[in-house]
Amino acid sequence: MQFFVSLRRKTYMMTDRFNIKNPESVLRSQLSASEFHTVSDIKKADFPQGNQPFFLFPALADLHVHFREPGFEYKETIESGAKAAYSAGYGLVCTMPNLNPAPDCLDNLKIQLDAIQRCKTAVSILPFGCITKNRQGREPADYESMLPYVAGFSDDGNGVEDDDVMEECMHRIASLGGLIVTHCEKGSGDDRERESAEVERNIRLARKTGCRLHLCHISTKESIEFIRRGKADGICVSCETAPHYLLFTKDDVKGQPNMKMNPPLGTADDRCALVEALKDGTIDVIATDHAPHSHEEKSNGWENSLNGVVGLESAFPVVYTHFVKTGIISFNRFTDLMSRNAYKILHIEQPPYYIRVDLSTPYIINSSKFLSKGHSCPFDGMLVQGKVFLNENDNDNDNENKYETYGY
Ligand code: DOR
Repeated sequence: MQFFVSLRRKTYMMTDRFNIKNPESVLRSQLSASEFHTVSDIKKADFPQGNQPFFLFPALADLHVHFREPGFEYKETIESGAKAAYSAGYGLVCTMPNLNPAPDCLDNLKIQLDAIQRCKTAVSILPFGCITKNRQGREPADYESMLPYVAGFSDDGNGVEDDDVMEECMHRIASLGGLIVTHCEKGSGDDRERESAEVERNIRLARKTGCRLHLCHISTKESIEFIRRGKADGICVSCETAPHYLLFTKDDVKGQPNMKMNPPLGTADDRCALVEALKDGTIDVIATDHAPHSHEEKSNGWENSLNGVVGLESAFPVVYTHFVKTGIISFNRFTDLMSRNAYKILHIEQPPYYIRVDLSTPYIINSSKFLSKGHSCPFDGMLVQGKVFLNENDNDNDNENKYETYGY
């Protein structure tokens, strides 16, 4: 219980820090009363400075980003990641713990928390603490001390191989009411077998321990089947996929480093299963797995380039264009996937912040213009609709009071 209370308090503290006394009144002052809608509505309204139509959406939330501070600031800092997130319409992002030092105890976590505190951004940045010490899969991390400051616990790119260690970790996290967030790669088979083996094992242990389980970037048909069954059995399991798994297959890779990520792109059957799961609610959220690397690290040919692509600044238009505009999912489901469900999974109240989006003007994604330090993006060059609107002079977010001009 303490867990939820602390997180809530933290959310409110963040609201205070941004000096948003009454966000709804800020919004109301920008729109006439008849144009004001509740957070669950998405309605067409007139753009105040012209005739272009825009839509209001709840600010987006991403359960899976890599801001590389501390340890790998040349790839991304909290500040550059926050700028990218902010410009892309995100109000909340959760950062993965593959950092140096890894946040496996409060002392290490504090280095990251201090960097977040120093970053004057309108985006709420909530870190994940580690599941095991130094993400090595051997001993549980120090959950108690980190609990009030984290979104949950994850070892990110490392699956916890040992069943007994995982069971103990889940048992301890469950006793604190916490959330475990797992990358799925267990055993020695190929990538798809490793993913579904860990999905199956983790769901089994969630049933046994009662731990709330969230599964990262699901990419295969088999994993989806295990999750669908787990949910039908009443187990507290949620999952995410990322836009690239919904749009591309391994046939699209063609040796391009901007198609190289972990888990890798799957088959056409996998992609169809993911789209079905997007529609029927088996997939709870779309996360970006925003994983920036330097230009050198992503331009060494297929074999030598690192896994990971950036996704924050393309997520809204890509998902909107391919899944909402085409009628595959509704606006309502879109906001569940891109915003609301993340808050539900974290047990955080969703603040009533909005973004404005121009849904009608087509444009081409140009990753060289991204505010992230990472520019390797599989959607570069794609024709899309759904530009998140920023006001004039609003290209940086170093002002604590930016919600007013951002259009929330
Ligand atoms: O492709 C990936 N890159 N997948 C991950 O899960 C980790 C990430 C990274 O940290 O670069």
